[in-house]
Amino acid sequence: MKGIILAGGKGTRLYPLTLVASKQLQAVYDKPMIYYPITSLIENGVHEFCLISSPEDLPRFEQLLRDGRQWGISIEYREQPNPEGIAQAFLIADTFIGNDPVTLVLGDNLFYGPDAFASAFEQFDGGATIFAYRVNNPEQYGVVEFDKDGRAISLEEKPVNPKSPFVVPGIYLYDNQVVEIVQNLKPSTRGELEITDVNTAYLNMDQLQVHRLERGFGWLDSGTSQSLHEAAAFVQTVEKRQGIKIGCPEEAAWRRAFINAAQIDVLIGEMPPCDYRDYLTSLRNEGVAVGAN
Ligand code: DAU
Repeated sequence: MKGIILAGGKGTRLYPLTLVASKQLQAVYDKPMIYYPITSLIENGVHEFCLISSPEDLPRFEQLLRDGRQWGISIEYREQPNPEGIAQAFLIADTFIGNDPVTLVLGDNLFYGPDAFASAFEQFDGGATIFAYRVNNPEQYGVVEFDKDGRAISLEEKPVNPKSPFVVPGIYLYDNQVVEIVQNLKPSTRGELEITDVNTAYLNMDQLQVHRLERGFGWLDSGTSQSLHEAAAFVQTVEKRQGIKIGCPEEAAWRRAFINAAQIDVLIGEMPPCDYRDYLTSLRNEGVAVGAN
C-alpha cells in the first residue's frame, strides 16, 4: 500500500510560529510533528511515501526527511500550491498512486496505542477503511453516525449539531477507486475537496468500513497552540514514564526490518550527542525484537 502524507495548509492558527516553518515542522515535545504520522505508517508496513506540502515548505521537509532511504523507505515530494482540500491530495499524487491502494495520513495527527491500525492494514481488501474515535467536541471534525447495530449510516463535516460523539481521525485507507471518486467531486461551500465527501461516496456504494478505536487509545491533533501544547505534554508524560519514544521513525523502521542493525549504527553515528541518540543507542544495545511494534 502506498502512503500519502498531507502536510500543507497555512497553519494560520499557529501564527507567528508558522511564519518560518509550517505547522507540521513544529516540535511536539522532542521531535517534529511530521515524525509521528510517518512513524504510524512505517509501523504498519508502508514504505513508499509521497509528501505533499506548499511550495515554500516543501524544501524544508526535504531537508528533514531526505529521500527516506536512511529509514529504508522512499519519499517523493509534490506541491500543493493552495490548500484546496484534503481530498485534492489524490489528484496531486495520482501518478504516484498508480494502480495501488493508498493510505492518507494528515501531517498534524498523532496516534498512540497498541496495534490500533494493524488489523485494518493487514485485512484491507478494497473499498475504504476509516476509523472512529469518541471526543467531546465532535463539531470540529468529520462526524460519523452509527445505527443500533453499530453500522455507519452518515458522515458530516463539522456539523453544527453532531449526530454522535464519534469523529473520523486523519488516517484513511482506500482502494484505487479513490482517484476517480475525487476527479468527480465538487468543491464544498468552503471551496475545498472534502475528505468527508470521499468517505460518503464509499458509504453510498456500501464499501466503507469504520473501525472504532478503543477507549484508552490516544489520538491528538495539533493545529492550535493549545492542542500543540497538550500533544507535547502527552508525549512527554508517556516517554518519561515508560522510557520509550513515540514517533521515532528509526525505531519503527528497524522493528519492521526496513533497516538493519548496521544501518541503525550509521544513523546513530550521524547524530550529535543528544537524548534521541542515547535512546537509539540503548535500543541498539538491548537489541530490538524485529517484527515487534
Ligand atoms: O483531524 C481530523 C479531521 O481532519 C477530520 O475529522 C475532518 O473530517 C477533516 O476535514 C480534517 O479536519 P481539519 O479541520 O483538521 O482540517 P484542516 O483544514 O485543519 O486540515 C488538516 C491538515 O491537512 C492540516 O495539517 C493541514 C493539511 N491540509 C489541509 C487542507 C485543507 C493540507 O495540507 N492541504 C489542504 O488543502
